[in-house]
Amino acid sequence: MNQAPIPRTFLLRGPLQGRARVPGDKSISHRALILSALAVGESRIEGLLESEDVIATVAALWAMGAQIDRIDDGIWSVKGVGVGGLLQPEIALDMGNSGTSARLLMGLVASHRVTATFIGDASLSKRPMGRVIEPLSRMGADFSVTPENRLPLMVHGLVPAVPIEYRLPVASAQVKSAIMLAALNTPGISRIIEPEATRDHSERMMAAFGADIGIAENDGDRTISVTGEAELKPQRIEIPGDPSSAAFPLVAALIVPRSDVLIENVGINPTRTGLFDVLREMGADLSYENEREVGGEPVADIRARSSSLRGVDIPREIAPLMIDEFPILFVAASVAEGVTRTSGLGELRVKESDRLAAMAQGLKRCGATLDETEDGLTITGSGGEKLKSPEGIPEITTHLDHRIVMSFAVAGLASLHGVAVDDISPMATSFPSFPPMMADLGAITG
Ligand code: S3P
Repeated sequence: MNQAPIPRTFLLRGPLQGRARVPGDKSISHRALILSALAVGESRIEGLLESEDVIATVAALWAMGAQIDRIDDGIWSVKGVGVGGLLQPEIALDMGNSGTSARLLMGLVASHRVTATFIGDASLSKRPMGRVIEPLSRMGADFSVTPENRLPLMVHGLVPAVPIEYRLPVASAQVKSAIMLAALNTPGISRIIEPEATRDHSERMMAAFGADIGIAENDGDRTISVTGEAELKPQRIEIPGDPSSAAFPLVAALIVPRSDVLIENVGINPTRTGLFDVLREMGADLSYENEREVGGEPVADIRARSSSLRGVDIPREIAPLMIDEFPILFVAASVAEGVTRTSGLGELRVKESDRLAAMAQGLKRCGATLDETEDGLTITGSGGEKLKSPEGIPEITTHLDHRIVMSFAVAGLASLHGVAVDDISPMATSFPSFPPMMADLGAITG
C-alpha cells in the first residue's frame, strides 16, 4: 500500500492456452474471517485470498481480540472471541482500499461495546458510507463523521442494540451484510428486505456457523431474518476461487484467437455469475465442467475458447449479479460484433473508482467506439478486429482500482500495440498473482 506507482505495458505474444487457478473468493474470504472471529473456538480456513483487502480485515479482527495465524499458503487458523466478545481496539482500523472490510466491520462493531476509528486510502476515503451509517444508527450505533459521510469516521457501538426491519435502498451485499453482522449480537429478530437479490455468501455462511437465518421470497422481494444473540460454532471452511478474478483470464481467452483456457475451482454461485450468462448470450464458448459443491458454495472448472462475440442489450436487473464484472465486460464488448448497451449502473460510479468514467475514458484511448451516459455505456464493437489506438500504445490512468488495471491488461491483449497502465500495484488488493498467471497462460503481461 502507498508505494510508488508501478507502470506496465500489456501486450499479446500468442494464444492463451492451459489450466490455471485463481485465488480464493474475496467476498467469502472476508466473511470467513469475520464469522470465525465471532465463533467460540478455533476455525480453520483453506483457500483464503491472501491479498491486501483481506489482510485489512485480518488486522482489524486481530486488533479486536481474535487470534489469527497463517499456517501455510491460504491456510489460516482463527480463534474467535464469541458473539459479543470483541475487545476495544487500541489502534485505528486501517481498511486500505477495501470497501467490504470497512462496511462489514462497521456492522460488526455497531452492536459491540467498542469504539473504533476507521481509516482508508485515497480511493476508499471518497466512497459513500452513509448507506451503512443510516441503518446502523437506527440500531443504536453512534457515528462521529463529517457531513459527507466518508472515512475517516468513528463508530461507537451500542449494547444491547435494537433490531430493525430495513428495506435496502441500494442493491448492496455490503450493506445487507453489515446489518446482518450487527444483528448477530442484537436481541430479537432483525429483518432486511432486498428488492433485488445480491450475493448471498453471508446468508449461507452464517447458517453454516449455526446462526438462525430465515429467507423468504415475496412479490420479488427477498427478506432475510437474523435471530440475534447467536452462538456461532467454529468451522472448517474451504473457499472456492473467485469468479470475479476468473473473469479476466476467461474473457482474455474468449477474445484472443486460438485460445483455450480452463480455470479450475471457480465459484459459480448464481448471485455471482451474471457475466458468464451474458457472455454466453454474446456467443461465448464458455462451459462449466466438473460441477460440484465446496464449502456450501457451487463450484466448477470453467473452460473458455476463442469466440466471435456479438453485442447485446444487458437488462438492468442483472447488474447486481455481475456488479464487479462490468469493466471486463466492456472490454469484451469493445471487440464484439455490433452494439452492447448497458444502463442502471449508477453504482459503478462509487466503486474503487468511477468505473463508468474510467472505462469510458480508457477504452476510447484504446480506440474503442462508445458513448457514456449517466448510468451506462453503449459500445460499438470492432467486430473482432484488434483495437487501434490513435496514440500507438495508449497510457491508461487506473485510479487506484484493481479491476480497472486488470481490465486494461486484457484490453492490451486485444490491442494492436498493447496498452500501458500507470500503476499495477492495486492488483494486490484482490489478485496479486495476476501477472504470473497470465504469463503462464502464454500472454505477455509486461
Ligand atoms: C461485495 C459486494 C459488492 C461488490 C464488492 C464486494 C461484498 O459491493 O462490489 O466488490 O463482498 O459484499 P456492493 O455491496 O457495494 O454492491
